[in-house]
Amino acid sequence: MDLLVKNDVAVVVGGAQGIGAAIADAAAAEGMCVAVLDIHPSRQAAAEAIAARHQVKTCALAADVTDAKSLDDAAAQVRQQLGACDHLFCAAGAGSGKFGFPFWNLEPTDWPRVLDINLTGAVRTLHAFREQLMQSAHGSALLIASIAGQIGSPTDPPYSAAKAGVINFTQCAARDLAAHGVRVNAISPGMIKTTLNKSVWQAWNDRQPADQQQDYESWGDEKVRRNVPLGRWQTPEDIAAAAVFLASPRAGNITGQTVNVDGGQVMHA
Ligand SMILES: NC(=O)c1ccc[n+]([C@@H]2O[C@H](COP(=O)([O-])OP(=O)(O)OC[C@H]3O[C@@H](n4cnc5c(N)ncnc54)[C@H](O)[C@@H]3O)[C@@H](O)[C@H]2O)c1
Repeated sequence: MDLLVKNDVAVVVGGAQGIGAAIADAAAAEGMCVAVLDIHPSRQAAAEAIAARHQVKTCALAADVTDAKSLDDAAAQVRQQLGACDHLFCAAGAGSGKFGFPFWNLEPTDWPRVLDINLTGAVRTLHAFREQLMQSAHGSALLIASIAGQIGSPTDPPYSAAKAGVINFTQCAARDLAAHGVRVNAISPGMIKTTLNKSVWQAWNDRQPADQQQDYESWGDEKVRRNVPLGRWQTPEDIAAAAVFLASPRAGNITGQTVNVDGGQVMHA
């Protein structure tokens, strides 16, 4: 299916690694020009690899979702280097790095940084790009939430709460931007092998007695076996395929939705 996005401009925040990098690659595979925004220096190599692989224009820009000015500066650079953003993808995220079950394993002081990156970070990102999206003929924004935001996951409460906030903000933003022809959706991924996912395992494993510790693969495989009807991990490419479809005009009548790409772990009515 032609997704009708050739030569559109995609911005992937958190695009240097993991799910964001896969979204950037999938957007380029559909012929979009891609700006890779991240705090991580590997953004440059990611943008160059995508340009070489798909023969599209790309750029790499430093941007920190906890800093509104850095996002505003990056948005101005995107406009200058590639043109106004048509499709915004916000994949930047981080956990507390601690095992938060029960919740009093964490201090209340562990919360603000996690909320700032995952929730307010998404809000800042949409603030920075909203005008460009409104100028697009078919603008869209896609926020990466998490099934942790739907089930009170017994791992990292501030992360879960932040992702629940992202799901709700998706609805607020979708209502506000609909009148401007911009759609806003979210994806809740399940279990994907990335740096972030491994840090959840690390935080858990560090708190286990020696005889109950597990390596990363066994820990994840067991969770998947127990919780996922389709019985397999998700991949960054699974998320990217859904993200690029939701961004495209083929999903032109879908807004305010959170789509779970989680092998059926959480099923909506
Ligand atoms: N991996 C999973 O199992 C899983 C499950 C559900 C949701 N998610 C969500 O998917 C998204 C991508 O995570 P991932 O698993 O690919 O992790 P990852 O650690 O591989 O990638 C996260 C990216 O975000 C960037 N980032 C972090 N803080 C930033 C900041 N302040 N400003 C700009 N960029 C920043 C990192 O440098 C990195 O490139 C996150 O929102 C995460 O919460 C992941």
